[in-house]
Amino acid sequence: MTETDNNANGRPGGQGFVTPPLRPASPALLDELARIVGARNLLTAADDIGAYLTDARRQYTRTAPCVVRPGSTEEVAAIVGACGRHKVGIVPQGGNTGLSGGSVPIEGAGQVVLSLGRLNRVLHLDPLNNTMTVQAGCILTQIQEAAREAGRLFPLSLAAEGSCQIGGNLSTNAGGVNVLRYGNAREQILGLEVVLPDGRVWEGLRGLRKDNTGYDLKQIFVGAEGTLGIITAAVLRLRPLPSARATAWAAVATPEHAVQWLQRMGAQLGDRLSAFELISRACLDAVLQHRPQLRSPIEGAHAWHVLVELVDSTAEAELQTLALAAFEEALRDGLIVDIALASSEAQADSLWSLRESIPAAQFRNVKHDVSVPVSRVPELLRDASDALERAFPGVLPYAFGHLGDGNIHLNIGMRDPDRTESLIAEKDKVNRIVFDCVDRLGGSISAEHGIGQLRRGTITDYKSPLEIDLMRGLKRTFDPLGIMNPGKVV
Ligand code: MLT
Ligand code: ZN
Repeated sequence: MTETDNNANGRPGGQGFVTPPLRPASPALLDELARIVGARNLLTAADDIGAYLTDARRQYTRTAPCVVRPGSTEEVAAIVGACGRHKVGIVPQGGNTGLSGGSVPIEGAGQVVLSLGRLNRVLHLDPLNNTMTVQAGCILTQIQEAAREAGRLFPLSLAAEGSCQIGGNLSTNAGGVNVLRYGNAREQILGLEVVLPDGRVWEGLRGLRKDNTGYDLKQIFVGAEGTLGIITAAVLRLRPLPSARATAWAAVATPEHAVQWLQRMGAQLGDRLSAFELISRACLDAVLQHRPQLRSPIEGAHAWHVLVELVDSTAEAELQTLALAAFEEALRDGLIVDIALASSEAQADSLWSLRESIPAAQFRNVKHDVSVPVSRVPELLRDASDALERAFPGVLPYAFGHLGDGNIHLNIGMRDPDRTESLIAEKDKVNRIVFDCVDRLGGSISAEHGIGQLRRGTITDYKSPLEIDLMRGLKRTFDPLGIMNPGKVV
């Protein structure tokens, strides 16, 4: 099944899930929405709404009757209530930086796009409880900066942090480069406020680290991609702001060496290890071609690279000494071939900009965001590359990602760039080969980018019928009319 298998209402096929038909937004609904948010916050002109209707990867360019921009939780609730009465689908949208098409409508259904961007205030910071309460439309960097100003760290960090919004980060359970030490987005919250599909508001903005009073409702909305309700505010956990950082770029002979080194570093340095990113030579070459002003930190043509970062609350010099000792041991034992340790903040930042440039440097190819147990990443890379080469001789895998948590972005192009478009035309076959390898190794076909409309037709092949049944049961319970982000996830 592909994205086109979504029917016009975005109602999932499959057994046991039938929602009433939805309708396209009518002029009467648009009038009602204008009354709720004020005419200037209801956008209908093609020029005004275009940017909301194309996803970050430009996989989907959609049409919609309007984009509505509420300025408060009450307005979100009123919009949801109105759409429910009119039986019209709603697409919640944050910074529209998602990579699976979850934040743009499906085509032809007349869905209302609800942008959270005006809900952009930090509401409260409690330094003694180490929490910050924010509205959903706060930009991630705005939150990181507010935490830093208070001498705290908000550790969620990803390439889109300058434009993604925390509501979207939570709705998609974003990952990023610090999951190894701090966990995914779902581990960064203590409470949520959510507008439910029937227009009621769940006031769950608690700042508790212990609360065993039944089901953990907030976690049901995290990663649900707006299909169960709209997150409008959150209580975020803050962490101590590290005082020292050590960043290095290493060459390793094989992914097996990288995994062994990761294991060694964990044993030596514990949770000081905050990032451990694997980068294949194809990715580094693509970056150096795409951004010629950047330089490889290490001489020579090495097959694999690792960007490693350590943080601590000690003095910088102390962490550097620890790091150097660990790196020397790894060199001596042959776990790594060479290493460059950044000696300034600027050097550390330029190592990160090499890493963060990878997605843009190889934009056109067949992309995958998969995870397997860390121990099985080398097998995944080998098996998938071999199987792809057999099916499509001349493939060029661009493998990179968060080895520290087993999440690899395995993007597939062709060694001859002129043949890339014909590979993209066969993307379903390419996906199948990669996902079958992932599945055999006990992995996930979407580690951090979510399901959206991109993988909705595929999860049914890789999750058990029981899991799909339970997910659909949740959807039915929370959203019996099926108005919340129809055509996504389930
Ligand atoms: C990354 O880790 O850079 C992203 O998750 C992958 C991407 O943007 O393609
Ligand atoms: Zn990633």
